Amino acid sequence: MSRTFLVTGGAGFIGVNFVKMLLENGDSNVVVLDALTYAGNLESLRSEIQDGRITFVHGDIADRALVDATLAQYRPDYIVNFAAESHVDRSVTDPRPFVETNVLGTQTLLDSARAYVASGGRLEKFVQISTDEVYGDLSIDFESPVVNAVLSEKLGRQVALYGREVFHHDSPLRPSSPYSASKASADMMALAYHRTFGLPVVITRCSNNYGPYQFPEKLIPLMLNNILEGRPLPVYGRGLNVRDWIHVDDHCRGVLLAAEKGRPGAVYTFGGYSERRNIDLVHELIAASGHPEAADTITYVGDRPGHDLRYAIDASLAMDELGWRPRHDFGSGLRATVRWYMANRPWVERIVSGSYRDYYTKMYSNR
Ligand code: NAD
Ligand code: DAU
Repeated sequence: MSRTFLVTGGAGFIGVNFVKMLLENGDSNVVVLDALTYAGNLESLRSEIQDGRITFVHGDIADRALVDATLAQYRPDYIVNFAAESHVDRSVTDPRPFVETNVLGTQTLLDSARAYVASGGRLEKFVQISTDEVYGDLSIDFESPVVNAVLSEKLGRQVALYGREVFHHDSPLRPSSPYSASKASADMMALAYHRTFGLPVVITRCSNNYGPYQFPEKLIPLMLNNILEGRPLPVYGRGLNVRDWIHVDDHCRGVLLAAEKGRPGAVYTFGGYSERRNIDLVHELIAASGHPEAADTITYVGDRPGHDLRYAIDASLAMDELGWRPRHDFGSGLRATVRWYMANRPWVERIVSGSYRDYYTKMYSNR
């Protein structure tokens, strides 16, 4: 029997990849609700919309009447909330939209879901997509990665980390930026709706995603675009901050498993077990793109205020309860991602020029 997913924020980077995965699996009706902020790009779902394989609703998760009407019309079995302001640097410049969407928007969606259930809606799961950034940051203890025996045994491959500590699903919340503070607030609200109202909420917290369709404000697509255009490569501070990179497909599989098998009230963390210092990642991107001359354009720029040093994840709960494991190897995943961006230059160029926003008007203005 087919099931219906309401995917909010489904026109953004991870949402688009999640929607494509659902359609490939073949047993789901998909409704995307997205406000199409600067980060939402319907072109990424062009063929799915043209073929009528998804239903698109243009709107804000903070608009209660619209969310109520969407739930009443499409009667989803699952709500997966990717909708968010997601860029840390933007939250430093202007925190307000982060509170409006990430906190108030999520709370509106939770309220609407509650009313939907109260009126007989059969909601299997409300999956709140969160981030490892809610835990704050970790220290860097080693100059180069050192094998972590516990994680290596768990994953059946060698896992080497820059520090002794890792985040667990129940680590304390210590967000550093307005972005991560807004995500932590949303998480606490979602868990409160589970405890107080019995809403079947599950939270996922993942490390840095990479893969196709990522908006070129984030490190990997931004650096790649600059490499290909011969522009300077702006590395914050000394480039020594460490991120744990996970392929977006591995994250999306985790989200789907959390929807299908997650325990209501649980928090699942996901990580890629591929730690890199930013500067080393930039050199890997230069090598993978075949533009060695770009190394000369690396430019150290002023650091991000409050810049988190390192993130690392222990995904044991997701492995034990959901049977999840990351499948992608970082080296080959990164090279495939570089090939995707090189083969899809118009996709990036239309974002940089702003013309991607015409697509919605063209597709929907006469409807
Ligand atoms: P993104 O910025 O690429 O996409 C966000 C999407 O949400 C866009 O399509 C945007 O139009 C939409 N949106 C924004 N405000 C909205 C609103 N008020 N109502 C409806 N839609 C709205 O983000 P992403 O990188 O795909 O991240 C998706 C989610 O995953 C976010 O919640 C983010 O916090 C979380 N996350 C991201 C990463 C990562 O590495 N990118 C890692 C862990 C968690
Ligand atoms: O950990 C999960 C988080 O990963 C998600 O919750 C966020 O939505 C997502 O944006 C990402 O946050 P980061 O801040 O880690 O990602 P970003 O791509 O912005 O930066 C990655 C690292 O690269 C970070 O240490 C800052 C650095 N950086 C970033 C940019 C854009 C640079 O050195 N230069 C840059 O131009």
